[in-house]
Amino acid sequence: MLRFLTAGESHGPQLTVILEGMPSGIKIDRESINQWLADRQKGYGRGGRMAIERDQVSILSGIRGGYTLGSPITMVIENKDWTNWRELMTAEDTAVLSKRKVTRPRPGHVDLAGAIKYRHQDMRNVLERASARETAARVAVGALVWQFLNLLNIEVLAHVISLGPVKCPSQEMDWEVVQEQIRRSSVCCADDEASAAMVKAIDRAREAGETLGGVFEIMVRGLPPGLGSYVHWDRRLDGLLAQALMSIQGIKGVEIGLGFRAGFLSGSQVHDPIYYGAQEGFYRPTNGAGGLEGGVTNGEILVLRAAMKPIPTLMKPLASVDVITKEPVEATKERSDVCAVPAATVVGKAVIAPVLANALLEKFGHDNIDEIKKAWQDYWDYVRDF
Ligand SMILES: Cc1cc2nc3c(=O)[nH]c(=O)nc-3n(C[C@H](O)[C@H](O)[C@H](O)COP(=O)(O)O)c2cc1C
Repeated sequence: MLRFLTAGESHGPQLTVILEGMPSGIKIDRESINQWLADRQKGYGRGGRMAIERDQVSILSGIRGGYTLGSPITMVIENKDWTNWRELMTAEDTAVLSKRKVTRPRPGHVDLAGAIKYRHQDMRNVLERASARETAARVAVGALVWQFLNLLNIEVLAHVISLGPVKCPSQEMDWEVVQEQIRRSSVCCADDEASAAMVKAIDRAREAGETLGGVFEIMVRGLPPGLGSYVHWDRRLDGLLAQALMSIQGIKGVEIGLGFRAGFLSGSQVHDPIYYGAQEGFYRPTNGAGGLEGGVTNGEILVLRAAMKPIPTLMKPLASVDVITKEPVEATKERSDVCAVPAATVVGKAVIAPVLANALLEKFGHDNIDEIKKAWQDYWDYVRDF
């Protein structure tokens, strides 16, 4: 099964990932991973750090001649900002620890709780790792794993459905419409008017020293019925996907299908009737379940939503307390984004990839892509005849 570890501080030399369990024989395009990394850095509302970093992945193991070997894959993304921070962040005992100390915890960050937990007086030791810079490593993993999923014609799409006070008017949107529309939106929203209003809202927030959050939706198509399981809580795909999304820095809510709205409706308004046609096989006219019933895919499009809180680093900082002097102060200001919801759509697509791949590997084997493709085809034939 797939597992991975990420390592690296935000201003350290690099981010490192080891991804173990990828089947052999999968063609990997490094440029596609770089494109995902570039997409994560884009989106209206991002801060100055994004002008410094131009993330590029180096692959150091597990791939030969462009194809996965089945052995652990090591990927590295250098932090360009390292050259400005080497003196402070080096692992050597020569590191200058007295400069740029963080002693004024930022509300909404783990600065204070992390410092208490790990007994740090300088909260830089906390924020360097808690930072969403880490998501670049997870995007590299997701981008690579999506190349495997794409081989089986599984596709993903994500778009922003609300940002701050601005809502995308149409909440149930068609795949092709979303795909086409988000190409021309700097905030990854599939509605032109809403996109323009979102950009304005970000400008207003920036001027006011404020930040904004929002909600994005991820859709996955091409999944067969029968991935995940209802037989035990920790094998339910809904729970596994929610955990992956919830683990993204700043995500505070996850929905599947109708999600929280289902709690306000009656049963017949929520559940999707089942029909059968000679051509289509079993099908549903609606998708309130978002493609999952009982923690198992039902063959419909997977629909996931995630809510991101406003960025906690504020240019008009909230009240805080200096942990050394115990005096009331304003929270620390670090260079920061005003809004990262468009970027979070990329992270969201990435983090669900290993979860879906694991569900596939569990069902179809995990050594070699040709074996997996054969089992995949046999299963689809079986599903069509069911
Ligand atoms: C892509 C992305 C970029 C982010 N950029 C920033 C940022 O520039 N400044 C900041 O304070 N928080 C940023 N965040 C959010 C924080 O990392 C997050 O709120 C913080 O680590 C606390 O974690 P929690 O919100 O999950 O509790 C970003 C999150 C993501 C996903």
